[in-house]
Amino acid sequence: MRTLVVLAHPDLAASRVNAALAGAARPVEGVTVHDLYAAYPGLTLDVEREQRLLLEHDRIVLQFPFYWYSVPPLLKKWLDEVFLHGWAYGTGGTSLHGKSLLVTTSLGGGEEHYRPEGLNRYTVAELLRPLEATARMTGLRYEEPFVLYATPALDDAGLAAHQEHYRALLASGAVREPELTAV
Ligand SMILES: Cc1cc2nc3c(=O)[nH]c(=O)nc-3n(C[C@H](O)[C@H](O)[C@H](O)COP(=O)(O)O)c2cc1C
Repeated sequence: MRTLVVLAHPDLAASRVNAALAGAARPVEGVTVHDLYAAYPGLTLDVEREQRLLLEHDRIVLQFPFYWYSVPPLLKKWLDEVFLHGWAYGTGGTSLHGKSLLVTTSLGGGEEHYRPEGLNRYTVAELLRPLEATARMTGLRYEEPFVLYATPALDDAGLAAHQEHYRALLASGAVREPELTAV
């Protein structure tokens, strides 16, 4: 299993959580951590290089801090420019078929805020539907997302536990699909 972690943090130097998760991922056998903001400081993507990287891996991980209920801008641009018609979807667009997609995201808000009665009303699974739909459209198997809540309240021991969980998830070839997808 070759795993590509597409890491998208606009300010990784100031990151605590995503930097720690990336640090846990890097030594795992078969894992490539691809730091998008470091690779493209001018924000201009090399689409062929990105497509080549995707072809070389079996499991695609999108790792990012949750920004306004969505992905940071360079990751959106990456999706827009790399997942092309005829390559990722549409006639002949089968390049990603059979691979899997794992979303790894960190949130400032607590899990209790991501419930119908909570501050944000919607669950994270619901807010991630655009990525789930993208996976479906491109033939990627959508895995149960790895979601890390309430990052400001996370102490060092809690962060270390998440690092270990992430390491184990990446080391394991087992793809866990969400129990409840469509509601
Ligand atoms: C521009 C911006 C938007 C954010 N939007 C959200 C949000 O919609 N929901 C949320 O729970 N946290 C939000 N946050 C908090 C970040 O998700 C949180 O700080 C981050 O996941 C922590 O990870 P890091 O240590 O790697 O930066 C936002 C932070 C920033 C800077």
